[in-house]
Amino acid sequence: MDLDAFSWLLTDEGQQLLARATEMTAASIEGKGSALAVQAALRKDETAEHVTAAMNQVDLRRKAAAKFGDLAPKMYFTPDGLEQATRLAVAHHRAARLRAFDAASVIDLGCGIGGDLIASSRAGLTAAGVDHDPERVAIAQANLDALGLPGAVTVADATTVDHSPFEVAYADPARRGAKGRVFSAEGWTPPWSWVETLFARDACVKVAPGIPHDLVPEKVEAEWVSDRGEVKEAALWSGSLASTQRRATVIGERGLATLTSEDDPGGEVGPVAEFLYEPDGAVIRAGLVTAVAAGVQGHLVDEHIAYVTSSASFETPFARGYQVLEELPYREKQLKAALRERGIGRLTIKKRGVQVVPEQLRKRLALSGSGEATIVLTRVAGEGTCLLVRPF
Ligand SMILES: C[S@@+](CC[C@H](N)C(=O)[O-])C[C@H]1O[C@@H](n2cnc3c(N)ncnc32)[C@H](O)[C@@H]1O
Repeated sequence: MDLDAFSWLLTDEGQQLLARATEMTAASIEGKGSALAVQAALRKDETAEHVTAAMNQVDLRRKAAAKFGDLAPKMYFTPDGLEQATRLAVAHHRAARLRAFDAASVIDLGCGIGGDLIASSRAGLTAAGVDHDPERVAIAQANLDALGLPGAVTVADATTVDHSPFEVAYADPARRGAKGRVFSAEGWTPPWSWVETLFARDACVKVAPGIPHDLVPEKVEAEWVSDRGEVKEAALWSGSLASTQRRATVIGERGLATLTSEDDPGGEVGPVAEFLYEPDGAVIRAGLVTAVAAGVQGHLVDEHIAYVTSSASFETPFARGYQVLEELPYREKQLKAALRERGIGRLTIKKRGVQVVPEQLRKRLALSGSGEATIVLTRVAGEGTCLLVRPF
């Protein structure tokens, strides 16, 4: 989107057009017309550029609901800015952590359309943002204004701006370039070598969940965060904000739970017991599977596999639990026969540490019964194993 068209969208006239576009699109979704018809109707009174700007916002706001919930219909986006923005649940957790550390001010060095900035401002922090992209700065400011939040945003180079007046420096380097996702940390913008300079102070940096553990400097805390079962990011905390070495934070329906290296006594491997636990992705990325094992009074099924087993049943936010009903044959032909014998037609296949493509296996098994079941294919003490399980 062009900056002039966006600025126009914020005028009274632009807001009226956006309101009309929103209303007419909602009606068309309910079956009273098509998006093209809406566009054509709006074009009678407005330029193509303005109509496109308004229609794009309507579309992006709808897509943004997954990240920004109720706030999305009031906010502004670009497609890339939305894709890169931190989802509100995760940004709120981060801002709450900053508040818990008594931080009062934060500078967001590369604020994009303001996903994190909004959360900081909502949490009561004095929040300032910089970005080198004038369009994103305009959008981030418009988002603060639209949500009635204090905060200031300005066009600047994050790598040269003076961040010392702020208690916390926050950065979320772009991990996408013109050719798609950038895997090397030095390829991020700003790059890892700049990120490292922030660790000399109280700072927080959002990074890819796949960040290698050995890239994280000593005394910097790495926190992996999942939201409703999906790992969304890792964040590195430095200075007085670091409180452990590794942390897994799990945001779920019932709130937030966190597990740290201090909860991890290390673990043992042993035979499969009555219950099996599949740890959350954030726990696995944080290398805290054995902490989950300790929490459920259990052990690992294999040194290299992220399944925990225990003779006790626990409800834990850090893992999905299953009751192990029986061990089935691992070999495909015998497994097929065993499932047929049990009348199982619908099969959920979980796998870890074995070369199986569940969709292909399900096809080959060609099951037809009326029963439903879940199997886990994994290695136990190095051996391929199939377990028939029932989710808690
Ligand atoms: C991943 S996005 C930030 C998303 C943001 N945290 C959010 O939740 O909306 C990274 C941002 O950094 C900005 N950026 C990259 N290099 C920069 C630099 N040297 N100075 C200022 N901004 C920069 C990009 O323009 C982009 O908007």
